[in-house]
Amino acid sequence: MTIGSENWNLTVFRDSLAASQGAADVVSAVIAGNPHAAISFPTGSTPLGMFDVLAARAARGEIDFSVVTIFCLDEYVGVTPEDPNSLTRWLREGFLNRIGIKPAQLRSLPVTANDLIAAAAEYEESIAARGGLDLAILGLGPNGHIGYNEPGSSADSRTRVIELTPESRNQASDYWEGAVPIPDRAMTIGVGTLLEARQILLLVLGEAKAGMLRRTLDEPMIADVPASWLRMAGPRLNVIVDEAAASDLSIGRRVRSAGPDNRGGESGE
Ligand code: GLP
Repeated sequence: MTIGSENWNLTVFRDSLAASQGAADVVSAVIAGNPHAAISFPTGSTPLGMFDVLAARAARGEIDFSVVTIFCLDEYVGVTPEDPNSLTRWLREGFLNRIGIKPAQLRSLPVTANDLIAAAAEYEESIAARGGLDLAILGLGPNGHIGYNEPGSSADSRTRVIELTPESRNQASDYWEGAVPIPDRAMTIGVGTLLEARQILLLVLGEAKAGMLRRTLDEPMIADVPASWLRMAGPRLNVIVDEAAASDLSIGRRVRSAGPDNRGGESGE
């Protein structure tokens, strides 16, 4: 793998709504160009605005998800898709059901398999068999993770089981339901697999992510900040952020601030 020439794209939008619309535009363009696209969507709070915009566009018939394939990005080991704490269930109920994704269009991580290593390898193969991901959409974890590629993840890592850091388990505790403890392991699509996607969209919103976004984009690429590896994708990487998330960046010369046309009033409602 050759290191990219740092010619990735960064677009700073005024606020989270405008950034969510910008991110939805990337998804719309990919599906318009390839209705059979294979896409991975992240969980977390960051994509919620983008989900609203996409669901509204689908309801208006402006985007057709009927033949896309969705690959789940990550899931807790041992958690079934019916479990209230399942990331797959969260994605289904929060987004996929709203855009009419049928079960046959959804690939979820085999986190209840007896042989997790073999099952992860099969998931990896199923992405390859689909021709790789056409679009990998990612959020930025508070500790720099993408999916659940935790700090220490290498740029060539593949779909696998990973130990969750205390920081990630603490993040999960914000929404964890019931008395069952938060699992200490998750399965995630690997950094190397994500880097091979035809397009990568990293969506980062809010001031709380500003410091980690600076480490991701503005400092040397390093396994301590797995998201920084995404820069190796060069022009296939689109980083979409709001002004609050961009507030610590010193790379203003790269920034193509979104013009007024991108600041329209489209909401998810
Ligand atoms: C989660 C998920 C990631 C997500 C990230 C950021 O735990 N594993 O897929 O992108 O952490 O979450 P949030 O958008 O809520 O900050």
